Amino acid sequence: MRIGILTGGGDAPGMNAAIRAVVRTAHRGGHRTSGVKNGWAGALDGAIDELWPSDVRAILPLGGTILGTSRTNPLKLPDGIQRVIGTLRSHGVDALVAMGGDDTLSVARALHEAGYPVVGVPKTIDNDLAATDFCIGFDTAVGIVAEALDRLHTTASAHHRVMVVEVMGRDTGWVATMGGLAGGADVILVPEYPVELGEVVEHLHRRRAEGKDFSIIVVAEGVDLVGAGTGAGQRDAFGHARLADRGVGDALSRYIEAETGFEARVTVLGYLQRGGTPSTVDRIWATRLGVRATELAVAGCSGVVPVRRDDQVAVVELADVVAEQRRVPRELYELTRIFG
Ligand code: F6P
Repeated sequence: MRIGILTGGGDAPGMNAAIRAVVRTAHRGGHRTSGVKNGWAGALDGAIDELWPSDVRAILPLGGTILGTSRTNPLKLPDGIQRVIGTLRSHGVDALVAMGGDDTLSVARALHEAGYPVVGVPKTIDNDLAATDFCIGFDTAVGIVAEALDRLHTTASAHHRVMVVEVMGRDTGWVATMGGLAGGADVILVPEYPVELGEVVEHLHRRRAEGKDFSIIVVAEGVDLVGAGTGAGQRDAFGHARLADRGVGDALSRYIEAETGFEARVTVLGYLQRGGTPSTVDRIWATRLGVRATELAVAGCSGVVPVRRDDQVAVVELADVVAEQRRVPRELYELTRIFG
């Protein structure tokens, strides 16, 4: 068999570990592998090349994806799915392992429903895919946020400031919640649980009255700051607004300084959260899921995704993974309120 490998959507540390796992597992079983360049763009244009075990040597600790990625969406094209199938088949690819988040895996689902064998691998630093306890990139992103908060504590303390830290996560607050908990944030704002800005102002005043003369606020980029004047972002091929353009962190910092009189500054962590070497958790689980995805593809399975569940590798339907967004559960969010 020839297994194709595709990485789509936002890049995430650990993708290369999964690519390495698929290539090594396939070749050990006497199969061949091809790399599809730049996500679905390469599947449309035929940018598909042989991938040898020698090509994946020493990429385990490498961030990003050696195949490149994009936010190209074949579902936007009248015959996009048939074009993808025709291109894959013309390159001798018998089955595809597609690594991505909800957008990439939604296209993979359409491919499966059109009769082409495809197995998904869950990837997004947002950690918002359903039916899995693990998405490639999330653990690394949490570590980056926590390390940044450790650093920001010292400068906020020295200047007695409110430091607003804007983090990624698109529509959910997993990175903000777990990164904020690990980094000791005093306030964590997430899209799942709206908070009145007046409550934030009162909380900051209360902290000062208790002698806590600096505060760290983590805000997810997708939070809707009613009244603080955020902008609208451009939209990508899947219709998502470019949230970095909204300036949530900057708007919140300006609002707090105006309403409290405390000095406030903003740090937007942005693409640092997706950069650099993957954590050991991302390396290990990207490897485990890459191995299982290959075994499923070779066995002729399609429309399925290997996931992490109760610390084991399980297999679920692709349709279940993209059915809904996994949101931060209330009891986890309430935990963040204890440490404010
Ligand atoms: O989906 C992962 C993610 O990093 C989101 O957290 C973020 O909003 C988005 O990608 C940014 O998209 P792009 O890389 O296309 O700017």
